Amino acid sequence: LSIQNRIQQILVARKEQQEYRKLSQLKGLIDFTSNDYLGWSKSEWIQKKVDESLMEFGALRGSTGSRLLSGNSYLIEQVEAKIAAFHNTEKALLFSSGFLANLGLISTLCRKGDIILFDDLVHASIHQGIQLSKANAYAFKHNNLAHLEELLEANSFNSEATIFVVVESVYSMDGDKAPLKEIVQLKEKYRFECIVDEAHALGVFGEKGRGICQLEGVEKECLARVYTFGKALGGHGAAIVGPVFLIDYLINFCKPFIYSTAPSIDFVKRVEHSYNYLLVNDNQQNRLTELIKYFNEKSKVVEKSVWLGAGPIFGLQMGSTTSARALALSLQEAGYDVRPIVYPTVARGSERIRICLHAFNTESEIDGLLLAINQSLNHE
Ligand SMILES: Cc1ncc(COP(=O)(O)O)c(C=O)c1O
Repeated sequence: LSIQNRIQQILVARKEQQEYRKLSQLKGLIDFTSNDYLGWSKSEWIQKKVDESLMEFGALRGSTGSRLLSGNSYLIEQVEAKIAAFHNTEKALLFSSGFLANLGLISTLCRKGDIILFDDLVHASIHQGIQLSKANAYAFKHNNLAHLEELLEANSFNSEATIFVVVESVYSMDGDKAPLKEIVQLKEKYRFECIVDEAHALGVFGEKGRGICQLEGVEKECLARVYTFGKALGGHGAAIVGPVFLIDYLINFCKPFIYSTAPSIDFVKRVEHSYNYLLVNDNQQNRLTELIKYFNEKSKVVEKSVWLGAGPIFGLQMGSTTSARALALSLQEAGYDVRPIVYPTVARGSERIRICLHAFNTESEIDGLLLAINQSLNHE
């Protein structure tokens, strides 16, 4: 079998299962799908600050090498220091994406013989990190403290192994929050290190958008936290934050960090001004909070529905790829950009449409969307 035939067979099988994916662009629809929760991908404030501050760099924009060779700069270290201070910890390390940050963090930190206990619904990047780490990994049922405790109990005899508990503060597909306080309380009884991915919480929850670890007062209880800039900050990239020893360890051993070109000046300046904007302005965060509350009240009008999520992400479970795709299509035809989320992103049987709210959405857009969902479901 040639490689081309092998691949074609796999793609054909995927099409037959209605699970084939292709890149598409929907233009001109009302955005209920992007991760641009605050609308900052189009922020004139950020863009103006970035443009102004870039002038001082003239034509010098490229990074020229990895951080350990020619790519490091005072600018990068200064921005990392600001990020660490914002997140109430000692040090931060920039990555070009949240996927790489998670993969690099977990595969470097956790090693053979260690034990990783992870929530069943953590992001694919965490799964990839786990696979590369060679540690023994066990999933606990989503947000199920009793199951987590059972696994902690079962593994507590192993005094050689470091135990890591890995969660997201807001889950990217179900949109619900981890019981962070309760998880951290388990440290009184069991020995483990906590890693929290705050991708969907930065800019949305907590004082000045610092995230849920800040909101719940558990920042100091986490060994490492990951903040991504591609969601509410409207850019891309990520930072791992934590104590000096952790970041120094990553600088020495994290291959995606070591063997990768340093971030460009444009990127670093954008990150810096996004964080500055969080500090000086919480209008969009407050507006989004209002809309989340509005959606929570109004979404009850959709009959026969099981809503997931606590905002800004909501899911309406449809139970099959075909029905999730059909509902998304009818909403798109009605003018709303809503996408289906299907296997393997979510488990078979939990296919859904996913609705993301943004500070720039309006109450009447939400009313219209919910009406369209109701009409579409009643016509099935
Ligand atoms: C929870 C979570 N972690 C990490 C990532 C990856 O971040 P990035 O898009 O910056 O690679 C995502 C994005 O899809 C995510 O939802």
